[in-house]
Amino acid sequence: MAVLPELHVLNDLSQWAAAAATLTLKLRRQALEERGRFLLALSGGRTPEQLYHRLATVSTGSEWTSTDFFFSDERCVPPEHSESNFHLAEQALFRPLNIPQPHIHRMRGEHPDPDTAAREYEDVLQAVTNTARGGWPHLDLVLLGVGNDGHTASLFPGTDALHERRRWVTVGHAPSDPPRRLTLTLGVINQATVVLFLASGESKAGIVKTILEPQQESDRQLPAALVRPERGRLIWVLDRAAAATLTGHSTQTHPRPT
Ligand code: 6PG
Repeated sequence: MAVLPELHVLNDLSQWAAAAATLTLKLRRQALEERGRFLLALSGGRTPEQLYHRLATVSTGSEWTSTDFFFSDERCVPPEHSESNFHLAEQALFRPLNIPQPHIHRMRGEHPDPDTAAREYEDVLQAVTNTARGGWPHLDLVLLGVGNDGHTASLFPGTDALHERRRWVTVGHAPSDPPRRLTLTLGVINQATVVLFLASGESKAGIVKTILEPQQESDRQLPAALVRPERGRLIWVLDRAAAATLTGHSTQTHPRPT
C-alpha cells in the first residue's frame, strides 16, 4: 500500500528552514543510533539553500563526522559553476561546517560523458553503502525538491530516466538549461528510509496540490508522484504559501517537528 505522506506546514520561510533542519538532525540522530552512520542525499535546485544555511548555523562540523553526503542529482556543469548543485551545497553547508572531503560524494557533472559519470557514481554508491550489485543502496535520508512540471531530482516527465528500473544513477534530460543531468533513479529513491520533499513559496502551490491531491491518473504518473518509499517514510515540509491550495484530505498533517 502506498505510504501516506506526512505533511509539515510552517508559517514562513524562517520557520520552514528551522523545521526542515530539526527534522534532518532528528533523522541523523536516529540513523547514528541505529546504524552508526548517516547516509544523506542532498537535493538540487535553490529551495534547499535555506535549509543548508540553517544547518550550518545550528550545528557544528564535529557532529557530521559519521555522515556521508551524496547528491540526488547534478547538472552537467563544472563544480564551480553557479548552476552546480554541489557548488550551492559547498557554499552554504560544506565550507561553513568544514566537512572533510572524503565524506562528500559529488556527481562529476563536468565529465564529458554523462553516462560514464553516472556509472562512476554507482561505483561510489556501491563502495560507500557496501551494496551488492543487483541490490539497491539504502540511503537514510533523500532530500528532494519539485519543479512546476512535476519533476524531481532530474527525473523529468516523459523521459527515459523516469522509467529506468535497473540502474542506480542515470542521465537525465531537462527541458531547461543545463539540459544534461545526472540523477538517482526512482529505484534508489524509493529504497530510502526517509524521503523529504522541500517546497516553499506561492509558485509551488499548484504543483504541490497536483502531487499531494491528484485529480487524474496523469497526476499520479508525474515523477514526484512516483516517489513512494517501499518501506520508508515520505515527508513534505512546506511553507504556508506552498500549501495554500491543499485541502488536507490526502495527507496526515503534523505540527512543527520537535
Ligand atoms: C535540480 C533539482 C530539481 C529541483 C527542482 C526545484 O537540480 O534542479 O534537483 O529537481 O529540486 O527543479 O528547483 P527549485 O528549488 O530551484 O525551485
